[in-house]
Amino acid sequence: MKKKVLSVILASTMAFSLIACGGEAAAPAPAAEEPAAEEAEEPAAEEEAPAEEEAAEEEAAEEEATEEEAPAASGELINVGFAQVGHESDWRTASTKSCQDVFSEANGYNLSFVDCDNDSAAQLEAVRSFIEQDVDYIIIDPIVSTGWDTVLGECEDAGIPVVVIDRTIDDSDKYVSWVGSDFLTEGKAAGEWLKAYAEKKGISEINALIIQGTTGSSAQIGRTDGFSEVAEREGWTILDKQTGDFTEAGGQEVMESFCKSYEGKFNVVVCENDNEAFGAMTAMDNAGVSYGPDGDVILISYDACTAGLKEVQAGKITADFECNPLAAPTVEKVIQTLQSGGTPEAQILVPDNWYALKDQIVDFSVDGNAQSMTEVTDAVIEAQY
Ligand code: AHR
Repeated sequence: MKKKVLSVILASTMAFSLIACGGEAAAPAPAAEEPAAEEAEEPAAEEEAPAEEEAAEEEAAEEEATEEEAPAASGELINVGFAQVGHESDWRTASTKSCQDVFSEANGYNLSFVDCDNDSAAQLEAVRSFIEQDVDYIIIDPIVSTGWDTVLGECEDAGIPVVVIDRTIDDSDKYVSWVGSDFLTEGKAAGEWLKAYAEKKGISEINALIIQGTTGSSAQIGRTDGFSEVAEREGWTILDKQTGDFTEAGGQEVMESFCKSYEGKFNVVVCENDNEAFGAMTAMDNAGVSYGPDGDVILISYDACTAGLKEVQAGKITADFECNPLAAPTVEKVIQTLQSGGTPEAQILVPDNWYALKDQIVDFSVDGNAQSMTEVTDAVIEAQY
């Protein structure tokens, strides 16, 4: 019963929010029948005068509306389903913890959490199980950016608003909001930093290897595209790129093969997250390749989690480009906006910082915007996640 009323609110909210972001408005969810009127039809009502009948119907509708208040307003827990990517990295651990902290019972939520173990089919299944459970909201961190339109249509038909966190969905607009980082800018920032840093160090030739994230994830696509755009413009050579699936084991395996295939030929390694960088470091250590500010290879990483920044401080990772995993508090604001009948923003960016040791901090711009870098110190590491 509750869901029918929510379905009407959702249909109009989605339409408004998508129009606001310039997208095509999603087909509204089927209009809810008005149950109050049906339930008000009691045999005695037939004898009532039309005006009285109308008043009774109105009263019943009001009662029904009160009964069907948003869960928080009625003191009930808000049921949230979260289909998380998996547990592949330090970043992911921080993201999961943040979501579990925010969507706690103490904060008025009942969280159904599914770790999809980087399996897209399992993630679709998780979303469908949330529909079956009739949760109030669904949060999805999409493993890959495509293949979503059908299941999001099912969420829409069920009247359940979907909020996308972190990675983007690129083939459907049937969700209320997306909250996350700008992966393309992260990739461009890494490229523009490398250009400025190479100039400062007098390095005229760049031969790069890229250990990519999970193929088809928007984090992989954005970082690869952003860095490659600068590489192409500058005439750098990208010797190879292969996926390490955002894991330490994957990073090590790819780097071991790179060390054999490109021995003595590369001077830059770009790892699309910190855990891949840790694996690549092991592989380079084993192959006798030196890296970091004092080594032969410039090692670039993304995420800038605590463990990554410690490797920057240790002189192993040359520069680390953050992807902030603490988007859950903003997702909660989106849900609270929906709870109070408002229209949340369609896209909400979580700001990122770029990190290096003092000597590796250089001036650079991304798309004409001057960037600032944060020096890695004990206090900075302490404050990170
Ligand atoms: O989607 C964010 C990326 O996914 C992070 O860079 C990575 O660590 C994670 O696995």
